[in-house]
Amino acid sequence: MNDRIFKLTDVQYSYLGKYPALRDINMTIRKGEQVALIGSNGTGKSTLLHILDGLIFPDRGEVIALGQTLNEDYLSDEKNAHLFRSKVGLVFQNADIQLFCPSVKEDIVFGPLQLGFNDKIIADRLAQVLEILEIGHLLERIPHQLSIGEKRKVAIASVLAIDPEIIIFDEPTAGLDPLTVRHIVDFIVKAKQKGKTIITATHDLHIVGEIADTVYLFGKDKRIIKQGPAEKILEDKILLQENNLIHIHGHSHTGFTHAHPHLPTEKHSN
Ligand SMILES: Nc1ncnc2c1ncn2[C@@H]1O[C@H](COP(=O)(O)OP(=O)(O)OP(=O)(O)O)[C@@H](O)[C@H]1O
Ligand SMILES: [Mg+2]
Repeated sequence: MNDRIFKLTDVQYSYLGKYPALRDINMTIRKGEQVALIGSNGTGKSTLLHILDGLIFPDRGEVIALGQTLNEDYLSDEKNAHLFRSKVGLVFQNADIQLFCPSVKEDIVFGPLQLGFNDKIIADRLAQVLEILEIGHLLERIPHQLSIGEKRKVAIASVLAIDPEIIIFDEPTAGLDPLTVRHIVDFIVKAKQKGKTIITATHDLHIVGEIADTVYLFGKDKRIIKQGPAEKILEDKILLQENNLIHIHGHSHTGFTHAHPHLPTEKHSN
């Protein structure tokens, strides 16, 4: 089907052949779909995002991306790689991997320059991302001297400047202040209206309902244990609790102590 962006069949991956990271992954992501990957630490979310971005390739199984088998052979062709990189952008979980230029400005325009965009487009994109992320004041700074949150914003800006059709975010809101989280959520909501496909790994369950139609829950054995509409997965508190995504919290109020499961951000009413 031509609206299919990714199709993964029985994908398996392990690091160095001995540390399993993904098992039996089957997944179809369609154009304009917004997907969230949730799961406790080490369940394979980042590994899957790296596979979708063509940075690593499965030990077993198949990945079809934009109608092509995504493998080393395909991406070793310069034309294919150029096309793929212009359509798919990944914001890494660790911004230090992404930022390597001597200034923030150079980091942001690096992707657009590599892809051969003209000066006018580059200037417009730069202005746009500086506004979305409110980082105009950082432009001449050295990226590795920034705070963790500032680095993350610059890393996000460097991908948004390419304006890819498919944006892959690995924990985009971790460590960011609430207003910036709001800007990123708003950006994702608007991107949906423009038909962009967005795949986000996150522990921030309170944003999942806004940024995702479909949620995949990864389990400790590195398999997808449940997938479905965001509201269905989020209402299953027992499943979330079993997977370390919400916790039982002891409370003492009005003189008596009790415990109940809790989203990290949820207030309790009694
Ligand atoms: N470079 C690596 N070498 C060896 N093992 C790795 C490497 N990167 C990840 N792993 C292992 O692969 C598994 C999946 O890791 P991954 O980073 O994909 O998890 P994750 O779901 O993104 O976790 P987190 O929520 O902490 O970001 C983990 O068991 C991890 O220890
Ligand atoms: Mg991760």
